[in-house]
Amino acid sequence: MPAIPTTARITAIINYKGGVGKTTSTINIGAGLARQGKRVLLVDTDPQANLTTCAGLPKDSEHTLYELMRYECDLSAAIRLETETTCGCAVLPACEKLSRLQREMADELDKERVLAEWLTTLRGDYDHIFVDCSPTRNLLNDNALVAADEAYIPVQTEHLAAQGLGLMADRIQEMRRKRVNTGLHITGIIPTLFKTSQKACHGVVEALREAWGDVVFQTVIRDNVALREAPARQMDVFSYAPNSAGAEDYAALVTEILARMEAKEVTYV
Ligand SMILES: Nc1ncnc2c1ncn2[C@@H]1O[C@H](COP(=O)(O)OP(=O)(O)OP(=O)(O)O)[C@@H](O)[C@H]1O
Ligand SMILES: [Mg+2]
Repeated sequence: MPAIPTTARITAIINYKGGVGKTTSTINIGAGLARQGKRVLLVDTDPQANLTTCAGLPKDSEHTLYELMRYECDLSAAIRLETETTCGCAVLPACEKLSRLQREMADELDKERVLAEWLTTLRGDYDHIFVDCSPTRNLLNDNALVAADEAYIPVQTEHLAAQGLGLMADRIQEMRRKRVNTGLHITGIIPTLFKTSQKACHGVVEALREAWGDVVFQTVIRDNVALREAPARQMDVFSYAPNSAGAEDYAALVTEILARMEAKEVTYV
């Protein structure tokens, strides 16, 4: 049977607000899709390198996104294969040096386009590419937003959560308006850290659905101890606690993502 040609969509998982579940979502969506037989690449753009360590990789690899951004190595040197990580996804790791990139590249032309240049050449090799972002507006996040076809925004289901979301929506609209990335849209809002017993959390989810409609995933990610513990074991939640509420929720989210892709109808803002 001939190989079915596929082209990976590039999805930035981003919110300038910290600790909302960006990295948790990236690793577990990736691991869930890999378990469905998808070829997935996860890109860690955060100098904290949380995704890198969650995937079972060291923080101080010789070749990382930093060397790639500086054209000091090529993709084959930087990318760790599915067989080398704990999550079943290929990973482009981060390192602490990424925090100096903005300063080092200050005078370079088209410095927001470097990641896009690299990732575009990989579209044929994967079904999905996810870019985990850090919680600040910086050069690496701008690179992620230039490279991406779409953005998923994890939103903590707490009071004031919508503020971060509004900021991201404005930024993405600005990318389109300034013609930096005219095709970029928010195609998924992921309610996270949902506390079932707290009335306020239910209210936030309702408000999100009212404001953003079907862009908000039906799946809500509950606050679950397995999701908190898995990173310390350098594992995704499916390997760490397959019967947990966390594994159940991310499996449901992956099913929803696949259904949206099959429907070929994207709801976006
Ligand atoms: N649904 C959840 N239930 C319990 N703990 C969670 C859940 N989601 C994330 N966490 C925990 O909350 C913390 C923040 O999550 P995470 O690192 O995914 O957020 P982030 O948005 O990537 O943070 P940063 O902005 O620092 O990159 C982590 O300790 C993580 O294990
Ligand atoms: Mg993170």
